[in-house]
This record gives sequence, C-alpha cells and structure tokens, in this order.
Amino acid sequence: MSVAAVYHQLIFPIHRQPEVFVPFGLQLLGVGHEFWDLGHIDLQGIDLKSPPFDFIERVVGQEKMDRLNTFRGPQGKFDIVCLSPQTPEWEEKKALFAKPHTHNEPEIRLILEGEGLFTIRDKGAQYPTFVQRGSLLVIPSDTVHSFALTDKQTITALRVFQTKDGWVPNYLN
Ligand SMILES: [Fe+2]
Repeated sequence: MSVAAVYHQLIFPIHRQPEVFVPFGLQLLGVGHEFWDLGHIDLQGIDLKSPPFDFIERVVGQEKMDRLNTFRGPQGKFDIVCLSPQTPEWEEKKALFAKPHTHNEPEIRLILEGEGLFTIRDKGAQYPTFVQRGSLLVIPSDTVHSFALTDKQTITALRVFQTKDGWVPNYLN
C-alpha cells in the first residue's frame, strides 16, 4: 500500500465507508468493505459462469455497475458462485476456501444471498469479517485470508476477476 493510500485511509475512512465499520488494521491493509442496497435477484436461467451484464446492472444499479466494471477491468470477468449443502463436492469446496491463501489479484465479492465469514490475516493478527446480502468486500492481492460459512450454510456471491484465470489460490504451505 502506497504512502498516499495510507494517508487517504487515515483521513477519509469514515467518509468512504459510512455503513460498515472497518477495523483500523484492515484499513491499513487496504481492505474495502461496504454495504450495497441490492435489487431483486432471480438466478433462474442465468448463466452463473458468465452472468449477463444487464442482469448484474439490474441487481446493483448503473452507478455501482460502473464501479464493478472498474474493478473488473478490460481483461477480467464476472461469475456467480453458490455454496450450500446441495453444491456438488460441497465438503471439498468448503475445504478449499477454508485453508489460508492469497491471490495474485484482489478478491472482490458482492454477496447476493446468504452469509459467511472471511478471516483476514496480517502477521499475527486475525480479522473476522462477516458478510451478508449486500456486502461488498475487496481483499487486496497477496493478503492472507480464508472463508467459512455460518450456521446458515449457504452463500451466493458475485465474483469479480481482473483476469480470465478466475479463482486461483496460493496456499501458504
Ligand atoms: Fe480467496
């Protein structure tokens, strides 16, 4: 994180993220956490691997769609991931997300339904970060994190990728 970015976080954290309290340690890491008011979501007939832009825009509104496109960039893509006991290979998938890992690009998630718990790590510190419908979480590249479901055992999230590679974890060991 650049000196300018740290300065910006120190001066403007409350104004930038009025709805969600972001611990100071996460602000220093550059983690973004906001709450978005989402529209109606009906995934019937939607291609989850490549959801149409007009569908996403209907859910988030045009202004926020512009922001998602800024995150995505020209080389990136969106997909939608659903995780619940009905998901094929559900135990294996949960285990993949639960192991601490990093990515070469930011992890950008807009939670469409359900809820979950990210744990973001920095040196000895751990920051449990609860997400639910409307949460937008941005975890910078090379930041150690893991993910677990809550007792509700279900989450649906829009994932924003900056490359075509999709979800590629770098496990710590
Ligand atoms: Fe991740």
